[in-house]
Amino acid sequence: MPAPLRLGIAGLGTVGAGVMRLVQAEGALIAARAGRPVQVTAVTARDRNRNRDVDLSGCAWAESPVALATRPDIDVFVELIGGETGPARDAMFAALAAGKDVVTANKALLAHHGHAIATAAEAAGRTVRFEAAVAGGIPAIKALAEGLAGNRIRRVVGVMNGTCNYILTRMEEAGLPYEAVFEEARGLGYLEADPRLDVDGIDAAHKLSLLAALAFGTRVRFDAVQMEGIGRVRIEDIRHAGELGFRIKLLGVAQMTGRGLEQRMTPCLVPMASPLAQLRGGTNMVVLDGEASGPIALRGAGAGAGPTASAVLADVIDLARGNRYPMFGIPAAMLADPVPAVVAAPAPYYLRMDLLDRPGALARVATALADAGVSIDRMRQRAHEAQTAPVVIVTHRCAPDAIAHALAAFPATGVVMGEPVTIRIEAE
Ligand code: HSE
Repeated sequence: MPAPLRLGIAGLGTVGAGVMRLVQAEGALIAARAGRPVQVTAVTARDRNRNRDVDLSGCAWAESPVALATRPDIDVFVELIGGETGPARDAMFAALAAGKDVVTANKALLAHHGHAIATAAEAAGRTVRFEAAVAGGIPAIKALAEGLAGNRIRRVVGVMNGTCNYILTRMEEAGLPYEAVFEEARGLGYLEADPRLDVDGIDAAHKLSLLAALAFGTRVRFDAVQMEGIGRVRIEDIRHAGELGFRIKLLGVAQMTGRGLEQRMTPCLVPMASPLAQLRGGTNMVVLDGEASGPIALRGAGAGAGPTASAVLADVIDLARGNRYPMFGIPAAMLADPVPAVVAAPAPYYLRMDLLDRPGALARVATALADAGVSIDRMRQRAHEAQTAPVVIVTHRCAPDAIAHALAAFPATGVVMGEPVTIRIEAE
């Protein structure tokens, strides 16, 4: 019998406990697939005495993540602590320096320090695997790094934060405002400890930046993701979008363009009939569009103990099998330093505004749009009793700059009241 692959697990929260349970429940299956037994030799967590409903009796307890990462009796350091700095970062570098391979679910750490980590891993002759960092149980990293390795990737699109998708779905289904659903989600324990990671789009942008690095062979540039959360999505926009044949999603798009690397994580309208629009609740979807393969859509649970543990074990089994390659698919020294695209590609836009209800008001808005080079595709004015009329406009494809120019001209029309709402329409 070959020697077991010995894991040290740092972090015994939902994911860490899920990995322990999966290793214990599926030991024989995992050993058969890995070609050798996989065992958890040692663990560490913040609170030793917490009841986690897992059997830790066969594992040593390490006093800190760094102490665990450098133990001679582990082969692979499994980092499930989270956080872009502090113990997770220290232990990552300590593990590599001590000659360990690393498996991590830590998207924040990799989004901020991915290139330094990839470089350190190669210097140490080790590798870092991170399937669990992106879209939970969906094998998006493996699909890019292996299944689509023969392709030039054109585009990566996806819904990568289940909590935001849950909130947007629930707003639509229950007709509830954002604030009420946010509180519901908090009560259900769906939100990260710092909810801004979810609702400001940060967690999803971390994931997108990792996918983009793998897809385009570039250094991770989380700082260059254009990012906007779901906090300003109003229930009336969800309703108007529905009437126009769209749903609103927090959508990630990454593509290499003539203008540089475009990475966006923003609320977008997507056509109601599209697979992305069909995602309900906490489900994630990642669409990888290869030049030779065409688009490949992967859909599944983006979080949770089982799905994320499944992704961690996939990486562990790969390491046990000796399936090794550079962290971002090509050697760190060959990763290009991408020029970030300053403006997004042209697209149609959804505009909603309150117009003073008087003769010529619509004409003034249409003129401001025309002067900015924005062409109207569809326009609706809602029935109203107040002095102002809610107006919704769908534009033809136009440059984001043109929309910005039109918005800047609206105050001078004297008829647009308050701040207009602008949401990009992404037709996959
Ligand atoms: N909070 C994330 C989500 C899961 O809701 O999808 C961890 O990235």
